[in-house]
Amino acid sequence: MASSKTLTLIFLLLFLPISLSSPVSISVSPQTLTKSNRTITIRWSGVDSPSDLDWLGIYSPPSSSDQDFIGYLFLNASSTWATGSGSISLPLVNLRSDYSFRIFRWTRSEVNPKHHDHDQNPLPGTKHLLAESGAVGFDNPGGPEQIHLAFTNREDEMRVLWITGDGSENWVRYGVEEGRLEAAEKAAVGRYERGDMCDFPANTSVGWRDPGWIQDGVMRGLEKGKKYYYQVGSDKGGWSDIHSFISRDNDANETIAFLFGDMGTAVPYSTFYRTQDESRSTVKWILRDLENFGDKPVFVSHIGDISYARGFSWIWDEFFNQIEPIASRVPYHVCIGNHEYNWPLQPWKPLWAAYGTDGGGECGIPYSLKFKMPGKSFLPTGTGAPDTRNLYYSFDAGVVHFLYLSTETNFLKGSDQYNFIKADLEKVNRDKTPFVVVQGHRPMYTTSNEVRDTPLREKMLEHLEPLLVANNVTLALWGHVHRYERFCPMKNFKCEDVSSNVTYGASPVHLVIGMAGQDWQPIWEPRSDHQDVPIFPQPERSMYRGGEFGYTRLVATREKLTLTYIGNHDGEMHDMLEILSGKAPYTTDDFVAEDGDEVGAKAGGEGSGKFKFSHYLKEAGILLLGAFVGYFFGFITHCRRRDAPRNTWIPVKSEET
Ligand SMILES: *[C@@H]1O[C@H](CO)[C@@H](O)[C@H](O)[C@H]1NC(C)=O
Ligand SMILES: *[C@@H]1O[C@H](CO)[C@@H](O)[C@H](O)[C@H]1NC(C)=O
Ligand SMILES: *[C@@H]1O[C@H](CO)[C@@H](O)[C@H](O)[C@H]1NC(C)=O
Ligand SMILES: *[C@@H]1O[C@H](CO)[C@@H](O)[C@H](O)[C@H]1NC(C)=O
Ligand SMILES: *[C@@H]1O[C@H](CO)[C@@H](O)[C@H](O)[C@H]1NC(C)=O
Ligand SMILES: *[C@@H]1O[C@H](CO)[C@@H](O)[C@H](O)[C@H]1NC(C)=O
Ligand SMILES: [Fe+2]
Repeated sequence: MASSKTLTLIFLLLFLPISLSSPVSISVSPQTLTKSNRTITIRWSGVDSPSDLDWLGIYSPPSSSDQDFIGYLFLNASSTWATGSGSISLPLVNLRSDYSFRIFRWTRSEVNPKHHDHDQNPLPGTKHLLAESGAVGFDNPGGPEQIHLAFTNREDEMRVLWITGDGSENWVRYGVEEGRLEAAEKAAVGRYERGDMCDFPANTSVGWRDPGWIQDGVMRGLEKGKKYYYQVGSDKGGWSDIHSFISRDNDANETIAFLFGDMGTAVPYSTFYRTQDESRSTVKWILRDLENFGDKPVFVSHIGDISYARGFSWIWDEFFNQIEPIASRVPYHVCIGNHEYNWPLQPWKPLWAAYGTDGGGECGIPYSLKFKMPGKSFLPTGTGAPDTRNLYYSFDAGVVHFLYLSTETNFLKGSDQYNFIKADLEKVNRDKTPFVVVQGHRPMYTTSNEVRDTPLREKMLEHLEPLLVANNVTLALWGHVHRYERFCPMKNFKCEDVSSNVTYGASPVHLVIGMAGQDWQPIWEPRSDHQDVPIFPQPERSMYRGGEFGYTRLVATREKLTLTYIGNHDGEMHDMLEILSGKAPYTTDDFVAEDGDEVGAKAGGEGSGKFKFSHYLKEAGILLLGAFVGYFFGFITHCRRRDAPRNTWIPVKSEET
């Protein structure tokens, strides 16, 4: 054995130089792609004594040095790799520069455990280049691409942002007929530079790529609740496809939103960080729901930890390509997460907050410029780079007032943000928007083993919770923990009337909804050596916990807000929450009839479902009678578990740090 190993080694040492200089050929087709995300095929041959360590590096631009790949795949991804020839196909996103591909050999003795990805897997070495392909590019690399919509401060507007390869004049043109886009608005244009990035890897040649130019167009004078068609670009630089959206209508009697945190990006290669394959499913099911909702106004709320680029610039391009089918159609709203922001010199950094380096040196700049949310919050970065924006803001959508806040910047009493939140919640007109939904990234409540943030949660409870309680906030939604968890209506760790599931003058119902794609969370399960002791016991206040990837869907009418948790393995409901506003006249009979059907149909096994509902409603009715003074808040929660067998769904695995 030993001698045969030695022989192999001698053989390798003798022949490696020869095999390295032997002609390996690599070709790519097509060499020009008509659009972002079109698939290319890379073919190679002539690899002598193939090894499972041989790999393909993906480069953009082609002038990048060997160690500055954007991603890699092992040649053994091709079934014929052992013959020395093979092929790999993958879609390419337009990075406004050409791509090229290089094949490297890398021997076991060269594995450097110090040069690794964030999972501690060694990154492939680049010492022995076997072959390099020609350049592959796009017909129109300058865009326009990565289209995404957002509300502005005005009800009769819709903002659209997109990326172009240069800063030349761009336009959005729009109208109610697809063939007649007669209105046009010129876009404002902006960008950021490598020098604006504040740490590794964002400011280095590994992470930095030219991000292009950010075009910002606002469609104005829109009529309420109408379908508008639009396209962006210019005669010189080309026009996008025509997209459509439903304009905003704050008189709408129904509000629909998809809400989630921590989704991330799926890419077809390995890179320096693990990417979020599950985000594909989240996008897929939301697109299905959008089809089903047809021409109703909908929007998306992604509450922090957005692309998980963390300083690797091209991941943002991949992300905006991935969400474009959604975001070119409905407004895509965000708030800031640790992974967009945290860096060593962030301006507000109390020791108890334990803010780390999770932003990968982006210091909030891509987040602040690639999105433009309503409001006017900002915080200087303190480095001369553009201000951090999109921190806190609010808007009404139909019957719900939505407030977004930042858990990464000062929220303590007396801060600008605190004052904003207080004033905003106090001026909500509950006749117009009976429901108020507050959203932020790090949770105020969670039962996951998220100990690092305990002091921060204490500050949130001390400074923010009283505002939420005093102003009868309906829902408080948080991300960061990659789980779904629903609490009872909470006030300082106290569950308000969990016994009856009907709460009167209820406190906010908190939910953690960070389950949209990032995999990295503690497991709420007994340890293998202590099956009897759960690691993270579920206290009474935690009404439902789910470990499956997915998102939530909010549908609210004046009478009732319904939030459902959709699981990605089957696109079906796993939990549901209903909250009554007490705002509109309704009778017990109406409500039970309407909802009883749904209960009967969907939760067939739960024979007592109907009875329970009517029982609760009667109770609510009685409470209502005694409640003519001021507000009535009915709260009904009905949990539907669909515990699918283990092997049919994909649970999240390990902890976020
Ligand atoms: C390909 O090679 C890599 C590196 O040795 C290995 O981790 C992986 O499991 C292999 N994949 C296949 C499909 O054989
Ligand atoms: C990146 O930022 C860090 C922190 O400011 C700095 O020490 C480093 O020199 C910068 N690197 C480059 C290449 O600019
Ligand atoms: C909303 O409901 C009110 C009262 O029933 C009605 O007058 C109004 O037309 C409705 N608005 C829409 C947009 O459906
Ligand atoms: C990109 O292309 C792949 C197939 O090549 C497809 O599955 C995916 O949906 C596309 N993504 C987008 C955002 O169009
Ligand atoms: C909140 O609800 C309580 C109980 O129904 C009510 O007394 C109070 O006036 C409400 N406060 C606000 C700001 O709506
Ligand atoms: C309240 O709802 C929870 C979860 O939906 C359920 O487990 C519990 O049994 C309900 N309480 C009562 C009294 O029915
Ligand atoms: Fe986070």
